[in-house]
Amino acid sequence: MWIERLDARHALDYRELMLEAYDLHPQAFTSSVRERAAMPLSWWESRLTNKLDVVLGAFEEGGLAGIVGLAFEPREKARHKVTLFGMYVRGNVRQRGFGYQLVQAALAEAQVHQGLRLIKLTVTAGNDQAFNLYQRCGFVQFGLEPMAVRVGEDYFDKIHMWREVSPL
Ligand SMILES: CC(C)(COP(=O)(O)OP(=O)(O)OC[C@H]1O[C@@H](n2cnc3c(N)ncnc32)[C@H](O)[C@@H]1OP(=O)(O)O)[C@@H](O)C(=O)NCCC(=O)NCCS
Repeated sequence: MWIERLDARHALDYRELMLEAYDLHPQAFTSSVRERAAMPLSWWESRLTNKLDVVLGAFEEGGLAGIVGLAFEPREKARHKVTLFGMYVRGNVRQRGFGYQLVQAALAEAQVHQGLRLIKLTVTAGNDQAFNLYQRCGFVQFGLEPMAVRVGEDYFDKIHMWREVSPL
C-alpha cells in the first residue's frame, strides 16, 4: 500500500470512492450520495486542485482504496486550524492499518504547513471504528453536537475531536 496526494487526474476514482462511502455509510457523513452524485466532475476536480484542500489517497494493486481530506482555513485568524474530512477505507481492505496510515499521512501533511497548530474533526456518535482510530492517533473529544445529522427519520449526534500539531 502507498499513499499519495490526489490531483485532477484522480477525479473520477475519487468521485467513485466517495459516492460508495456516502451510499454505504450514510450515518458517517454529512453529505448525502444524492447531492454529491449530482455534482459535475469539475466539482470533484476542484476539490483536488483548489488551494485550501489536500486529499490523500491510499492505493494498492486494485487502485484507490482509501481516502482522507484536509480543509485549510482561508481567514487569517483561523489559519492555525485544519479540518480532517472524508475519511474512508474500502470494506475489502479494512483492519489492515490503512485508516491509521492515512491519518498519519494527514498529520504529516498538516505539520509542514507553517503556523498550523491544531487539527480537528467530527465523527458520528456510535461509529466506534472511526472513533477508536482517531483516539489511537491522539485525538481527544472536546464536544458533542446533538442531532447533528438526520438520516431518514433518525438523528445522530456528532462527536468533536481535536489534537495539537507540533511544528517540525
Ligand atoms: C473508520 C475506517 C476509516 C477505519 O479504516 P481501517 O483501514 O479499517 O482502519 P485501521 O485498519 O487502521 O484500524 C481498524 C482496526 O483494525 C485493527 N488493525 C489494523 N491493522 C491490523 C492488522 N494488520 N491485523 C489486525 N487488525 C488490525 C486496528 O487495531 C483497528 O482496531 P480497533 O477498531 O479495535 O481499534 C473504516 O472503517 C471506514 O472507512 N469506515 C466507514 C466510513 C467511516 O466511518 N469513516 C469515518 C468518518 S468520520
